[in-house]
Amino acid sequence: MGNPQAAVRRAFAERFGRPPEGVWAAPARVNLIGEHTDYNDGFVLPVAIDRRVTVAAARRADDLLRLVSLEKGERRLRLAEVGPGAVRGWAGYAAGPVWALARDGAPVGGLDLVLTSDVPIGSGLSSSAAVECATLLAARDLYGGPADVARLAAIAQRAEHDVVGVPCGIMDQMAALACRAAHALLLDCRSLEADQVPFTPADAGLALLVVDTRVSHALADGGAYAQRRAACEQAARVLGVAALRDATQADLDAAGDRLGEVGYRRARHVVGENARVLAVAALLRQRRPEAIGEALCASHASLRDDYQVSAPELDAAVEAAVAAGALGARMTGAGFGGCALALVPAGAVADVAKAVAATFADRGFREPASFTVQPADGARRIA
Ligand code: GLA
Repeated sequence: MGNPQAAVRRAFAERFGRPPEGVWAAPARVNLIGEHTDYNDGFVLPVAIDRRVTVAAARRADDLLRLVSLEKGERRLRLAEVGPGAVRGWAGYAAGPVWALARDGAPVGGLDLVLTSDVPIGSGLSSSAAVECATLLAARDLYGGPADVARLAAIAQRAEHDVVGVPCGIMDQMAALACRAAHALLLDCRSLEADQVPFTPADAGLALLVVDTRVSHALADGGAYAQRRAACEQAARVLGVAALRDATQADLDAAGDRLGEVGYRRARHVVGENARVLAVAALLRQRRPEAIGEALCASHASLRDDYQVSAPELDAAVEAAVAAGALGARMTGAGFGGCALALVPAGAVADVAKAVAATFADRGFREPASFTVQPADGARRIA
C-alpha cells in the first residue's frame, strides 16, 4: 500500500486544509493459542503482526467528528450523538473509543481524522481492535486521559461492547496496545497481568503463515459468539465457580449430566485450552518454538469438535497445511471463517501455501490469500 503515514498525511491536508497534529498506528494480531478463553478469565497468547491501522488526527474547537477512511469513505457526526446503538458501520470503531474515553472522564472534544488499514476486514485478525486502539491513542494524546494500558484496553473494549454491539473479551485490545516485536504476549485475562514471551520464529528457521479463507465471520456468525459466551457463563454457574478459568477437568467429570452434553463440551474446550496456552508459553520461554505444533493442532481440534466454531474452509486449511509440512496449524480469532495460522519451516512456506490453495480448489472453496507475518510492536504514536 506504499507508505501509509504519507498517505494519511496527504489525505488529511487535502480534505481538511491543514496538517494533522500527529500520526498513530495500531497493529492487527494473530492469536498463537488461547481461543475463546479471554471472556472466561483465562489465558491467551497473541502476537501483534506487521499489518496495521494508521491514523492522522487533529483536534477541533467544536464536538464534531469528521472521520475519513481511505478504504470506506467519509462520515461526520457529533460526539454528543455517539452512544449505544447510535452509529452504524465502520465509523463506530473510530467514534466509539472517543465516546468511551469521554465517559472515562477525559476532556475530549471533536476530531478530524483520516485512517487507512492494510488488515483484511472480518478475517479474525482483529482489524476492529486496531482501529479502536489507534483512534483511542490519538484522542488520548491530543486531549489527555489515562496512561495505563489495561485501563485503555478496557475503554476500547467498552466502545466495542456499547457502540459496536459485540460482547468481545479483552484479548484483542490488550494485544493491539501491549504487544512487542519479537514477542508473544502471555495475558492473564483475569488480572490483566501481561508477560512478554520471546517469540522469533525466523531465528528457529520457521515462519508464521496466515491463510485468510476469505469467508467473512461477520457475515457468518449470526450471534454465535454471544451464544458461546452465554454457554460458558451458564457452565460456570452450574459448577459454582466465578469463571471457567477456575474449573478443572475433574470438576467437569464430577458434574456429570448437570452440565448437559453441550455445556460439558464447551467447558472442556476452555479448560484444555488454558492448559495448552501455559504449555506453549513454557516452550517458547525455553526457546523451543518448533515444539509447539502439537498444541496448535490440539487447539484446532478442540475448537472444531467441542467448541464448534470452526468452518469447513478453516478445517481444510489446517489439514492441508499440516499434510504439506507445517509443524502445527489452527484457526485463529473468533472462528466461523476468517484466518488460520500455520507454523511452517521457512523453506516450506511456498509449498504449504500452494497445497492449501490446491485443496481449496478441489473442494470448490473461494481462493484463499496466504501471507507470512512478523511479530510486531503494539500501538504507538509514530509522528
Ligand atoms: C474475538 C474477540 C476476542 C476473543 C476471540 C476468541 O477476537 O474479540 O475477545 O474472544 O474472538 O478467542
